[in-house]
Amino acid sequence: MSAYIALVPAAGSGSRFGAPSPKQYLQLLGKPLMWHTLSVLAAVPAITRVVVVISPEDEWFDCFDWAIPKLEVLRVGGASRAASVRNGLAALGAAGDDWVLVHDAARCCLTVPMVERLIARVADDEIGGLLALPVADTVKRATSDGHVSKTVSREGLWLAQTPQMFRCAQLLRALKDGAEAAVTDEASAIEMLGLQPRLVEGEAQNFKVTYPADLALARAILASSKEG
Ligand code: C5P
Repeated sequence: MSAYIALVPAAGSGSRFGAPSPKQYLQLLGKPLMWHTLSVLAAVPAITRVVVVISPEDEWFDCFDWAIPKLEVLRVGGASRAASVRNGLAALGAAGDDWVLVHDAARCCLTVPMVERLIARVADDEIGGLLALPVADTVKRATSDGHVSKTVSREGLWLAQTPQMFRCAQLLRALKDGAEAAVTDEASAIEMLGLQPRLVEGEAQNFKVTYPADLALARAILASSKEG
């Protein structure tokens, strides 16, 4: 039977956030932001390994007591997200048909039911799939000077989230050097092989902490889920 392995690329510098440490290590309810992310993945019964990929130069990871079951760390991060994922896959030692669920370290408001919904909908799929959200707002394309050039139909448009779940060997093949420059998520690399990943409805709260204001929102969501 295929295993389910969570792979969390966390080798980014978080330059858009503008904090002195990478955003995955910012304090959130007394823990590093990424602790919340890794804890949720470890709490999914079907997932047997939670593997975080950090930069070889990372100075922060060892400063914290993670105390998360199933957690492993690989210091093989690369210059791009795709390189970090590819290096992590190559170092995993997983079977080719094992499922890998790649999840952004900075999507810390993920929940166990979201991951279980993805697994339930994708486990029988030939290709794999991802959590995503149908676009709810009206979409504008901008001119280079910040005016509206046109309104784009939102019909059939989805915003990609993570986890993104694919077979280990196929994802590694898709992320081979050539594809790397053009892809910002795993699904795009799979699409470049001519394949069509399945879209599974995610949730708005599964957003990626990117700017300072996002941290307050993540804190409020995590605090209210602990109270509930
Ligand atoms: O920068 P962005 O928020 O899009 O990064 C998405 C995820 O990819 C983050 O978890 C980040 O740490 C990771 N990443 C990485 N290696 C890089 C760049 C980003 O693991 N070189």
